[in-house]
Amino acid sequence: MSDNAVVRYSRGFRWVHWIMSVLVITMLLAGQRFNTELPQDERLFSLAGHSSLGLVVIVLMLLRVVMRASGKAGRPVLELPRLQLLTAQVVQYGIYISLIAVLITGLATAWHSPLPVEPLKLFNLARGDAALFEQVRAFHAGSISLLGGLLTLHIGAALWHRYMRRDQVFETMRLGK
Ligand code: HEM
Repeated sequence: MSDNAVVRYSRGFRWVHWIMSVLVITMLLAGQRFNTELPQDERLFSLAGHSSLGLVVIVLMLLRVVMRASGKAGRPVLELPRLQLLTAQVVQYGIYISLIAVLITGLATAWHSPLPVEPLKLFNLARGDAALFEQVRAFHAGSISLLGGLLTLHIGAALWHRYMRRDQVFETMRLGK
């Protein structure tokens, strides 16, 4: 395939992809704060910020699924060995499934939280059920670990294509003209 033949995902889909990437990685890293001893006011502030970004990720995820289903994402055709294509697909579907699980379990964790969870300080998602909170939170943490592992593979593969193979895989999702 020549350089001129690179077909990218649609501009809108690429923006959604990169905005989600920044938000999800930020949340993965910042969420580690919840495992430390935090003063109550800091925990409440973090819960408000975390749930606000989480709701934005939910909206972007819905948009992404609609774009995919309606064909508005674009579908670049890559000439890669079958096994590589298959592995990439398994990892990509895994990321979709684990991210959806993270979002659903995040909402459930917020719902059972004994502390108020107030996105943008507008409303409170928490109904407070300390008994179930720890269990639901464990599912949230488990799906986050799975997502983190798959994202590591995905980012590693993207960098390998960009800097080692120097092929057009990364180009399909690159921002810009
Ligand atoms: C991109 C999606 C998300 C990521 C990467 C993420 C990440 C995290 C992480 C790393 C933790 C700490 C878990 C642990 O290690 O035990 C956490 C806890 C939590 N998350 Fe999420 N989360 C996401 C989405 C959401 C959403 C959508 C909500 C609700 C609107 C939410 C609500 C919570 C709550 C309530 C906790 C427990 C905080 C506490 O211990 O007090 N999360 N999240």
